[in-house]
Amino acid sequence: MSNETITITDNRTGKTFELPIENETIKAIGLRQIKVKDDDFGLMTYDPAYMNTAACKSSITFIDGDIGILNYRGIPIAQLAEHGAYLETAYLLLYGELPNPTQLKAWTDAIHLNMAVPEAAINVIKAFGPNAHLMGVFQAVIAALSTCYPDSKKVHDQANREHQIHRLIGQVATVGAYIYRNQKGLPFIAPNPELSFAGSFLNMMFGKAPHPALEHAMEILFILHADHEQNCSTSTMRLVSSADTDPYASLSAAAAALYGPLHGGANEAVLKMLANIGSVGNIPAFIESVKKGEGRLMGFGHRVYKNYDPRARIIKKTAYEVFEVTGKNPLLDVAIELEQIALHDEYFVKRKLYPNVDFYSGLIYQAMGFPEEFFTVLFAIGRTSGWLAQWNEMMNDKDQKIGRPRQIFLGHGERDYVDMKQRV
Ligand code: CMC
Repeated sequence: MSNETITITDNRTGKTFELPIENETIKAIGLRQIKVKDDDFGLMTYDPAYMNTAACKSSITFIDGDIGILNYRGIPIAQLAEHGAYLETAYLLLYGELPNPTQLKAWTDAIHLNMAVPEAAINVIKAFGPNAHLMGVFQAVIAALSTCYPDSKKVHDQANREHQIHRLIGQVATVGAYIYRNQKGLPFIAPNPELSFAGSFLNMMFGKAPHPALEHAMEILFILHADHEQNCSTSTMRLVSSADTDPYASLSAAAAALYGPLHGGANEAVLKMLANIGSVGNIPAFIESVKKGEGRLMGFGHRVYKNYDPRARIIKKTAYEVFEVTGKNPLLDVAIELEQIALHDEYFVKRKLYPNVDFYSGLIYQAMGFPEEFFTVLFAIGRTSGWLAQWNEMMNDKDQKIGRPRQIFLGHGERDYVDMKQRV
């Protein structure tokens, strides 16, 4: 028993129970001993949407949402965005420390060596027509990769896991570029190991070496999106792979969660919203409609941040650097004014709704030439390193079993089947 405990009195029976408190948490399973009769199931916790449930122990990403802090392995996100590179950040997330030059070279080479996508997956990409949503295609192709790599089923073999990690971190970029080019009817371009990760990706997308400022912005955006602890898609990654599912199938499921407009799909929804608002003059009417519950201010609000999302601050700064090269996105003025009005409006202030990572990212992506439907794919390419770091951590966690929540059953008691003729 730890030094810190909580004593619970069950007022139904008058019995008391002492439960250990560790890391400001009690183990939900400890409540099971609280029961009226010996053959009762025991108490459970009810927590729809996991508002107050720690589903794992993790050492990867720390967020303090009240003051807007985000650290990867202890290092503030702003420092990584200013000084780091995406593959270096991915290494940090996976292995816990920044790589030394030898480690970084070996790691970067391993990713670049594994960026080519197998023929079968290329055929899957080509099967989709120009109207297929790019995030739906991305998800399908990542699932298809599972069939190309049957060795990936050896999920308890650390060396094998690392091989799949190299493949996935690299291939999500290639798959992303190819699904875009397939939609445009353009030939595919092979990855170039001489370029940075973002540089190779942009080269595969647009068929030319990117402007250094745009390449730098892309690296920053991948870093900012790389991990965000137990969000909806990462929890999906953990839950699906807790069944020993291979990482391609699990990552495809995580991508499906990210696709939703309340999660990674918000960046696409923000751009649609800004375009619908159209001009600064229309903002007050739009804000009123949100306050009446007729829709949400997309790119605002967060389950954990009750302050300015630190990623949004960095993205806003990066936007200006991108616009120096591409010219200003005409929707920027609408976004800035919308942010200002919302930050001072009682409805948003009272609910602690601030811009999140998705509010400004779409403006940058659009200025760089990405179509709206591709924005969430960009999020997924960066987040892949975080999904895999969380997966690898989970596979090394001795407490981990297959994820399996309970339910409060409110349906019928047992009753007989009724023959069709007797049903009215
Ligand atoms: N616009 C207007 N009202 C909002 C918004 C918003 N964007 N977000 C929350 N609210 C209101 C909500 O109506 C509720 O009000 P009331 O208490 O009167 O019913 C209150 O704020 C609490 O909202 P909630 O839905 O209980 O909060 P949540 O923690 O379950 O949801 C969220 C978090 C991110 C899903 C939500 O803020 C939202 O829908 N935001 C817009 C979509 C978005 O930008 N998503 C990207 C999130 S960050 C990146 C990522 O995770 O992918």
